[in-house]
Amino acid sequence: MTEAALIDGKAFAANLRAEVGRQAAVLAESHDVVPGLAAVLVGEDPASEVYVRNKGKATREAGMNSFEHRLPASTSQAELLDLVAALNADEKVDGILVQLPLPGQIDSGAVIDAIDPAKDVDGFHPVNMGRLVNGAPGLVPCTPLGCLLMLKDRLGDLSGKNAVVVGRSNIVGKPMALLLLRESCTVTVAHSRTRDLAAVCRDADILVVAVGRPAMVPGDWVGPGATVIDVGINRVAGEGGKTRLVGDVAFEEARAVAGAITPVPGGVGPMTIACLLRNTLHAACLRRGIAVPLAD
Ligand code: GUN
Repeated sequence: MTEAALIDGKAFAANLRAEVGRQAAVLAESHDVVPGLAAVLVGEDPASEVYVRNKGKATREAGMNSFEHRLPASTSQAELLDLVAALNADEKVDGILVQLPLPGQIDSGAVIDAIDPAKDVDGFHPVNMGRLVNGAPGLVPCTPLGCLLMLKDRLGDLSGKNAVVVGRSNIVGKPMALLLLRESCTVTVAHSRTRDLAAVCRDADILVVAVGRPAMVPGDWVGPGATVIDVGINRVAGEGGKTRLVGDVAFEEARAVAGAITPVPGGVGPMTIACLLRNTLHAACLRRGIAVPLAD
């Protein structure tokens, strides 16, 4: 058996970001519209700081406007809801992203519900989730969308493939399963209570793992030739007191068996921001009744 092909999410994301930038330039030229993304960060979580900074930079690089709102960790739910209402009403804002997790005094569900579904570039609002369930067009969560784009690029038509999604979060597992169902895969959503998880995984043509536990899926859970998408980004102790990032799949073991696999870092991670830019462009078009330029 030869070693699995690496799915280069970094290169794929760079191409997608460049394409979004080209389409944003066309939109500016044809309709005098510059899409705007508002990112809201509450508190000082260092990882969230990095994400929000990177999102702002990528947005500007794609020729779109970035608005960053930083609120103290003590912000009340009412104050955050006031900001969301102001962003909903702001004509310059096409996409609203409230960075999660939020401090304990704030009900994340209530904040997500308050975002205008037309500006919900995270795709977390129940209206967009409902559209995804119904197979209707809408804004789709960025991380699973990035996974789907890489799978379609690698495999072409996904119809009839046996897809196993490990993890059932609202952000990744559930929307991923719905997107794969939309592509006519036979989908299994597995989780911590699944009986004989190893056998379920081994049967997958497409294995997507999003559980947030380092190297939880060993190589002998991967079927020969399977396409493995590792969504996990876990920081673990490395050599010499340093830390390093690993996925939810035991990479070297899985690589010896799989047909193709995403590395960590450099796999799914870069695709999330690229898809956020793509969703912002889509939101700007949809809100104005302009045909969206990039298909799923
Ligand atoms: N925190 C971790 N991932 C995400 C994401 O995709 N969107 C938001 N808003 N917060 C996150």
